[in-house]
Amino acid sequence: MKDRYPIFNQHKDLVYLDTAATSQTPDSVINALQNFSETAVGSPHRGLHQMSIKATEAYLASKLKVARFLNVPASHEVIYVKSTTEGMNLLSFSLRELVQREHNIVIPITSHHANILPWQRLAEGSGMELRYVEGDETPTYQHAYWEEAVDQNTDIVSVPWVTNGLGIDYCVHHIVDLAKANKAISIIDGAQIVAHQQIDLTHLDPDFFLFSGHKMYGPQGIGAVIGRRQLLEKMSPYQVGGDMIEFVTKKTATFAEIPKKFEAGTQNVLGAVGLGAAIDFLESIGMDKVSQHEAAILKYAFERFKAHPHITVYGPDSLSRRKGLIVFNINGVHPHDVASLLDDLNIAIRAGHHCCQPLNTYFQVPATCRISFGLYNSKADIDALMDGIAQVLEVFQIE
Ligand SMILES: Cc1ncc(COP(=O)(O)O)c(C=O)c1O
Repeated sequence: MKDRYPIFNQHKDLVYLDTAATSQTPDSVINALQNFSETAVGSPHRGLHQMSIKATEAYLASKLKVARFLNVPASHEVIYVKSTTEGMNLLSFSLRELVQREHNIVIPITSHHANILPWQRLAEGSGMELRYVEGDETPTYQHAYWEEAVDQNTDIVSVPWVTNGLGIDYCVHHIVDLAKANKAISIIDGAQIVAHQQIDLTHLDPDFFLFSGHKMYGPQGIGAVIGRRQLLEKMSPYQVGGDMIEFVTKKTATFAEIPKKFEAGTQNVLGAVGLGAAIDFLESIGMDKVSQHEAAILKYAFERFKAHPHITVYGPDSLSRRKGLIVFNINGVHPHDVASLLDDLNIAIRAGHHCCQPLNTYFQVPATCRISFGLYNSKADIDALMDGIAQVLEVFQIE
C-alpha cells in the first residue's frame, strides 16, 4: 500500500505511526485536488458562469459521497465545516437555545479537548452542569457508568466513538439508545472511526455525527457535521455572513434553508473534492479490508508491547475494545525523549497529552507516547519501531 502514497517516495525510510493525528495523502486524492485546481475553480452557489457551476456541482457531489459512504439517513443533512473541532463549536453554540438551565451535558473523561471545551463554554453560559463519565482505574466502556451519569435532566450526550487518548472503542449504539431513552441529544465524535470501519448512520441514528477529512486520507481543512434536520431547523446559525441568507435589510436578516444556514461564506470546495476522492479511495479498497488490515497490525503491536518488560500500555486489556492505536510509556524515559530519538531513526510517533489533559490528570500520567495505524503500515513498521525502542533503552542504559 505504501506505493499509493507519494510521501514515501520522498521519505523512503519513513515509518509513519501518527495517523490518528493526520493521515498521509494517497496519489488519487492528490490527483483529484490538482485536477480540480486546474479545471474548475469558482465560487460555489453564487455565480451563473461555468466555473461557479462546476464548483457547485463538485461541492454537492462530494456531499453525496459522504451520504453514501456513511449511509446517512434521509432524516439527516450533511453540513461541511473545517474539522471536528469546528463542528463541536457549531453544535455547542447553535444548540444553546434547545437546552435548559440546570440540566446537564454528559461526556466521557477520555474525550479530546474538542469534545470538552465547547461544552465547558455552553455549561458556563447556560448554567448547565458538565458531567464526566469516568470509571475505574483504567477508563474503558462500562455501560453502568453511563447509566449512572445520564438521567431525565440530560440534554446532551457527546461521546467519541474511538478515543484518541486511549484507543477505546465505545459501544456507541448503547450510548445513543440511552440518550434516546432520556430524550437527550446524542452526538458522536467520529474523528477516530471513519477511516477504520464501515459506518452505518441509518442503523445507529444519532442526532449528530462529526468527523475530519484529514484523518481519513483527505486534506486538512474539511470535515462534516451530519445532523438531524428536525433539530437543525430549530437551531440558530453558528456563523453569519455571505451565502447563508434568504434576505437582508439594514437591520435584519432571514436565513437560508439548511444546510446553507450553517455554511456562511465561501466554502472549501477544494477540500470537499479531496474528501470525496478520499472516500473513493477507501471504497476502492473496501472498508472490511481496511478494518482487517489495521486489526492485524494492532494485534501484532499490542502483543509485542504487552510482552515487553519496559513498556507500560494504557487502556483496555482486551483487543476487542481497542481500535487503531496504542498509548504507552517506556518506563523511566520521558515520552518526548522517546519521540525525538525515534524521529532521528525516521519513525514518527506522537508524544504528549494528545489533547486529553483531563484524562492525563485522571490517570496522573502527564504525558504518554502513542502509535496509530493507517493503510500504509505493515508489521515491518512495528518491527522497525521495536528496534527503535531497543535503541532508546540503550541510550538511557536501561537493561
Ligand atoms: C477523538 C477526536 N476528536 C476530535 C479531534 C479534533 O479533530 P480536528 O483537529 O480535526 O478538529 C481529534 C483529533 O485528534 C480526535 O482524535
